[in-house]
Amino acid sequence: MSEKNSYKKIAVIGLGYVGLPLSIRFCESGLDVIGLDVDPEKIDSINTGKSYIKHIDSSQIESLVSAGNLIASTQFAEIRSCEAVLICVPTPLGKHREPDISYVLETGKSIAPYLKAGEDGSKKLVVLESTTFPGTTDEDLRNILESTSGLKAGEDFHLAYSPEREDPGRTDHSVKSIPKVMGGFTSQCLQRCIELYSLALDKVHPVSSTKVAEATKLTENIFRCVNIALVNELKVVYEKMGINVWEVIEAASTKPFGFMPFYPGPGLGGHCIPIDPFYLTWKAHEAGVKTRFIELAGEVNQSMPEYVVHIVSKALNGVEKSIRSSRILILGLAYKSNVDDTRESPSFKLIELLAEEGAKIDFFDPHVNTIPKIRKYPKLWKKKSVEWDEETIRSFDLVLVSTAHDFVNYQELGQWAEIIVDTRNAMSEVTSATAKIYPA
Ligand SMILES: NC(=O)c1ccc[n+]([C@@H]2O[C@H](COP(=O)([O-])OP(=O)(O)OC[C@H]3O[C@@H](n4cnc5c(N)ncnc54)[C@H](O)[C@@H]3O)[C@@H](O)[C@H]2O)c1
Repeated sequence: MSEKNSYKKIAVIGLGYVGLPLSIRFCESGLDVIGLDVDPEKIDSINTGKSYIKHIDSSQIESLVSAGNLIASTQFAEIRSCEAVLICVPTPLGKHREPDISYVLETGKSIAPYLKAGEDGSKKLVVLESTTFPGTTDEDLRNILESTSGLKAGEDFHLAYSPEREDPGRTDHSVKSIPKVMGGFTSQCLQRCIELYSLALDKVHPVSSTKVAEATKLTENIFRCVNIALVNELKVVYEKMGINVWEVIEAASTKPFGFMPFYPGPGLGGHCIPIDPFYLTWKAHEAGVKTRFIELAGEVNQSMPEYVVHIVSKALNGVEKSIRSSRILILGLAYKSNVDDTRESPSFKLIELLAEEGAKIDFFDPHVNTIPKIRKYPKLWKKKSVEWDEETIRSFDLVLVSTAHDFVNYQELGQWAEIIVDTRNAMSEVTSATAKIYPA
């Protein structure tokens, strides 16, 4: 029997930054989605029509839930009634910065009991979306699925990998418009994957294997990581020569070919760029090859917070102050502009380094009112953003712009602050600043 276009109901596992928007997209395309997560708070939130992700409107969730298209649950047995299962769980780094695919494997174990073909003989499709090293899908995940279920991938169920390219907060592209790369364990697996995603997305790009698809995602993020390291290095070099690297990048960007702008910063942040390169490095070591270029990029990027602290120290020296006992305001806590996501934000590293030197630190972020619980920085939990007013800003010895949110009034900052260390070129358009500004 032909399985073509037999998708009516799918399961999405892991309802975070990737899984929730993906669920919404499939619902909007006319499919029913069961969202599965181990976090009961997220399940409650969705089922009561409330969003927990800033750029997703509660009204969007509410209308899908009340129409019965989107249901959130912790019950994996729901998979029985679905034709496909999309896995969007975390792939972090372990203690020694090694890949931790335990969430993927755990999910594999949880879904395996429900993978038997439907009564009409239609085989279920399992797609891994989480970022990971080549081999995860057709070796690690397949092993778990097969050994737990007693079924065979490619024969009893279909298996594929298709990486998410979500960029939270972006408005010029959507889940629908971003082309989706996908590779199957067999050509039939790939075919089923193409059929599913073509129902919801404008464009799919099939590749020859799950490993190629996994390597594609890592390559995209390593490309960013290496290029950011390059401009971070150029920033330090040009600063010594009295040249503003931002002006250089803007000028170089006028070349209509052969140059793509990347921008320096206080260090890498977010769920992807600081983490994904290690997935390839680890796998490469296992294969007996070295990734010197990628590791060098990691080193340069990781040294940026120290470089910024050095500039802070120089700036305070200029007014005969030291970091010790100075009141420093970190401006921007999220890892990038205009979002509330603080994962791996370099602002935390800056707070840690400056506090170690004896500074008294506060932060202002219009999108992050209170610091969430973060394993690495337990002492910062529940610390609140200061208010944005002249008296408060004037009370600091120095303001360190770590993330440049559009919401901040940089004209006011330029007039209220005494010293600004600017890691994001946020002050470039400010004409009437009385503060002394140091690029970093
Ligand atoms: N956030 C991004 O911008 C982005 C972009 C592209 C790719 N990715 C990749 O997508 C994957 C997911 O990232 P994210 O940002 O959505 O993570 P997230 O932390 O926002 O969401 C993951 C969700 O999975 C749930 N979960 C954990 N273990 C589970 C289990 N065993 N069963 C069911 N649910 C479980 C968590 O409760 C959480 O809700 C990662 O591999 C990430 O690298 C993320």
